[in-house]
Amino acid sequence: MHTRFGLSILCLLLACSGLGSPARSAPHSGYEAVTGDSPDEDRSIWDSFYEHKSNVFGKEAVGFLKENLHRVRKGRAFVPAMGEGRNAVYLARHGFKVDGVDLSPIAVDRAVELARSQHVSVKGIVADLTTYAYPLQAYDFVFVSLFYMDQLIPKFKQVVKPGGHIMIYLKADTGKPAAGTTPDDFLVKSSTLKAAFKDFQTLSFKEYRDHGVDVIALLARRP
Ligand SMILES: C[S@@+](CC[C@H](N)C(=O)[O-])C[C@H]1O[C@@H](n2cnc3c(N)ncnc32)[C@H](O)[C@@H]1O
Repeated sequence: MHTRFGLSILCLLLACSGLGSPARSAPHSGYEAVTGDSPDEDRSIWDSFYEHKSNVFGKEAVGFLKENLHRVRKGRAFVPAMGEGRNAVYLARHGFKVDGVDLSPIAVDRAVELARSQHVSVKGIVADLTTYAYPLQAYDFVFVSLFYMDQLIPKFKQVVKPGGHIMIYLKADTGKPAAGTTPDDFLVKSSTLKAAFKDFQTLSFKEYRDHGVDVIALLARRP
């Protein structure tokens, strides 16, 4: 695993657990780790993953997003690591003007196509979020799911306009060993996430089990 930021790019594909894809039956438990040693390697790993599977996380948006969207100010939305676009498209369908970024061109193409098939539009951007030129205070809403690098949290915060919102949905590091999980650097402790948003107003902070997986969901507002 590369150490450019002291953290590998590690994403746990939760298809096997059913998290994020309620319609999918869970043939076996556990996670599949996707890691790489460089952005190019990460991209080709993710691309080949998406090449072999589609709707990895399902087409349904994250439940916490659906339940809390009414609390969020409408406008421009930023969806980093949008994958195949289930959440980005949901936001577009609910009136947001959406920019979605992902390292994988295959995932971005699918997201744009998913939007088109639902008669909305998502601007798909293929980019590495570790080197992305994040604009300042450009978005009313930022939504992140199942993607965590601690050094990117300040970047995700920086793009939120004053009075705008950010929502984050992640696997939780509960301290309990979980079958099949990969290195701890992907998981986030609730205390870490809370501390990262102490300068924002936290509107909701939930720790719960979603499709058998411990997760944390946060909704916060930039003062
Ligand atoms: C676990 S998936 C989550 C996808 C989506 N957020 C969802 O919940 O359906 C993580 C996504 O992060 C993307 N990704 C990984 N490293 C990235 C990077 N450095 N820059 C941009 N995207 C990245 C992968 O291509 C993948 O689509």
